[in-house]
Amino acid sequence: MWDLPLVNLYSTDIVGFMYDVPFVATPEVVVRRMLQLARVQPGEILYDLGSGDGRIVIMAAKEFGARAFGVEIRKDLYEQSMARIKDLGLADRATIINASFFDVDLSNADVVTMYLLTSVNERLKPKLERELRPATRVVSHDFEVPGWRPVVVEEIYEEWRSHKLFLYKVPGKEVPMPGKAVALEDKWLRQVAELVDGSRSLEEIAAKLGVTIRRVREAVEELRKLGVVDEVKIIK
Ligand SMILES: C[S@@+](CC[C@H](N)C(=O)[O-])C[C@H]1O[C@@H](n2cnc3c(N)ncnc32)[C@H](O)[C@@H]1O
Repeated sequence: MWDLPLVNLYSTDIVGFMYDVPFVATPEVVVRRMLQLARVQPGEILYDLGSGDGRIVIMAAKEFGARAFGVEIRKDLYEQSMARIKDLGLADRATIINASFFDVDLSNADVVTMYLLTSVNERLKPKLERELRPATRVVSHDFEVPGWRPVVVEEIYEEWRSHKLFLYKVPGKEVPMPGKAVALEDKWLRQVAELVDGSRSLEEIAAKLGVTIRRVREAVEELRKLGVVDEVKIIK
């Protein structure tokens, strides 16, 4: 019993201490729960910040149908995880960026996952607040984002220890404003256009149509090009 934490300490990655956070992998059952909590949908874009051996990215792409990106600073882990992604035939849906997560633009994310440290989350917070769109889900394993109010806090038991999961949702709304009336041939665009009333958010339109916010955002962008949508107001 008592030697278990010691074994874990010895197996902790020493090279990793050179970076913001050492490499410690999230157990598979916990990864799956993180992705379930975030309700990752096919076609959504997920970023795992500090992706280690790529397990979150791989599961998000393989089991949840996401377009998944990992950001990993260590070259060895980047190479190892990219090799595994290729072996599994997932290269069209999963990729690892060999960089610091402080330098990667996250504005396209629907879901962000992290297993870092509270102090690192604190340093990342201004970037997340600047770049993430309203309603983006953030799941953090074991370490909270100081000052953010979680939507869900869950404890999950796995082998010899429990893991805490924090689910956050970026506050605010993206509201498309109606533009000019145009006869639309495309049924899907017409369905979206009918729900654009200057008060409904992308999230509310997505819920009404039973699709992801990403799909509605893409349709609204098409409608904006056609002049049917004037602009998308971001209300924080
Ligand atoms: C605790 S591990 C988590 C690995 C994986 N996300 C998981 O949950 O299994 C943190 C990872 O972050 C990486 N890392 C540390 N600082 C980083 C930075 N500034 N940018 C990108 N990756 C970083 C480490 O090399 C390590 O692989």
